[in-house]
Amino acid sequence: MGEDHQDIYDPAFVADLFDRCSARYRWWSAVASFGLVWVWRRACVQRLGAMVLIARLKGAETPKAPRILDLMAGTGEVWPHLLARFPRAHVTAIDISRAMHDEAVARLHRARSHAITHIQTDALTEPLPAASADLVIATFGLKTLTQAGQSLLAAQINTALAPGGSFALIEASDPRGWALRPLYLWYLTKILPLVERALLRGAQDFSMIGTYTQRFGDCGHFAQQLRAQGLFLTERRHFFGCATSVSGFKPIAPLGAKP
Ligand SMILES: C[S@@+](CC[C@H](N)C(=O)[O-])C[C@H]1O[C@@H](n2cnc3c(N)ncnc32)[C@H](O)[C@@H]1O
Repeated sequence: MGEDHQDIYDPAFVADLFDRCSARYRWWSAVASFGLVWVWRRACVQRLGAMVLIARLKGAETPKAPRILDLMAGTGEVWPHLLARFPRAHVTAIDISRAMHDEAVARLHRARSHAITHIQTDALTEPLPAASADLVIATFGLKTLTQAGQSLLAAQINTALAPGGSFALIEASDPRGWALRPLYLWYLTKILPLVERALLRGAQDFSMIGTYTQRFGDCGHFAQQLRAQGLFLTERRHFFGCATSVSGFKPIAPLGAKP
């Protein structure tokens, strides 16, 4: 892939990349991460559930059948976790890649079509109706965004969330400060590309995920953007910082406002 000559953050480039990854995305992400992506998706849903409880202590009431917005939904890998935790939810899922969308829809029609609407669109530019979501989630969709893109996404989340609504996002990250970081980065940037080239006849698409992850760093910048929107949040590191998450809620009254 001509990464040096291409803007790897161009939405068309990102959509093409995931179009090519779509057929194998499910098993490759699970196997290449030794199952950690499954654990982290579940952790993200647990953070969302915890935020619902904290928001309730602050006077917010999340409906029993919440409207959930799943951003950068891909093939819908987080849905089983989401629907286990919020069985009466309706999920609106957004993804920019046509082929990821098609994979997701094929999956939907089997068991979950009543509970999920999947839309192929750009999460940064799609006009999201104000207060249309009680909960917002995104798993592993941040790393292909620039910092400016992350600011746009933070604004989108603030618009879409109803007051008192909760959110949780998780992303693979660079585990700075971890003693085994060099080994981890060697695996991500050297071993995985070799395995991909060998198994997938020279393809280097999934290997790009290592490049994006290293450049992404962690959720710190995105957390600042969410705070700038007036959202309350906490940050977490998972497995020595190999993933980081942000979770929180939209205050019923703007932060700092007196009743
Ligand atoms: C690594 S996958 C994660 C998919 C899924 N959420 C998961 O947990 O496996 C990232 C997804 O984000 C999508 N994506 C990237 N930029 C996007 C954007 N601006 N709008 C909507 N989807 C986007 C890609 O098409 C891809 O399907």
